Amino acid sequence: MAPRKLAAGNWKMNGDLATLAQINAMAGAVRGASCDVLICPPALLVPALVAKGVVRVGGQDCHAEASGAHTGDISAAMLRDAGATHVILGHSERRADHHETDDVVRAKARAAHQAGLVAIICLGETGDQRDAGQTLEVIAAQLAGSVPEGATAANTVIAYEPVWAIGTGRTPTTGQIAEVHARLRADLSARLPDGAEVSLLYGGSVKGANAAEIFAIPHVDGALVGGASLTAGDFLPIVTAL
Ligand code: G3H
Repeated sequence: MAPRKLAAGNWKMNGDLATLAQINAMAGAVRGASCDVLICPPALLVPALVAKGVVRVGGQDCHAEASGAHTGDISAAMLRDAGATHVILGHSERRADHHETDDVVRAKARAAHQAGLVAIICLGETGDQRDAGQTLEVIAAQLAGSVPEGATAANTVIAYEPVWAIGTGRTPTTGQIAEVHARLRADLSARLPDGAEVSLLYGGSVKGANAAEIFAIPHVDGALVGGASLTAGDFLPIVTAL
């Protein structure tokens, strides 16, 4: 089976009731889309977005434990009970801001799987690592360290997000994206029985103007979109390009 196509928006720490209202304008296009459409808003907005019934809804993080004394955190089951189907894990902003290691990301992904959520596991090299020629080595190590045992194409999505391309307006060349996605596909296929079916997203300054070119790259099954997911006008051209 071919990997599922997924257009995913990550609102990060943005969005309010006016942003939520943008979802209404997406209803028709989302119904007609040939891909899954997911928005991951701040956790407090998950129930309101679920109530709209237009897009799939995900969280941006979860704790590795099911419950306990973890002030400020939420569990995977809490997201699921609020109606989320996915959770983003290991985004470079969390790896940087909250010192999340591959071990932490792997434990969170295990928790997400146990709760019945699809884990969108993010990885990507920094600009310095790319300049040093370490991209494939970094990507392979993050994949090996962040994906837990029991991962399948049904419960795991991988998002390749070069740190230097996030929110900068800079994107890798199509050849650079192709090289990384081919490596991810090869490593997943070697490790998981259905690794050839795991959806691989590209993220980092995706917009309507470059989406079609990026989606034409082999082993790119969708996008994880930040800034351009905040308005229907910016997000819909990406959804329809997939
Ligand atoms: O999760 C999304 C990525 O960080 C990409 O963000 O589209 O604003 O560059 P961006």
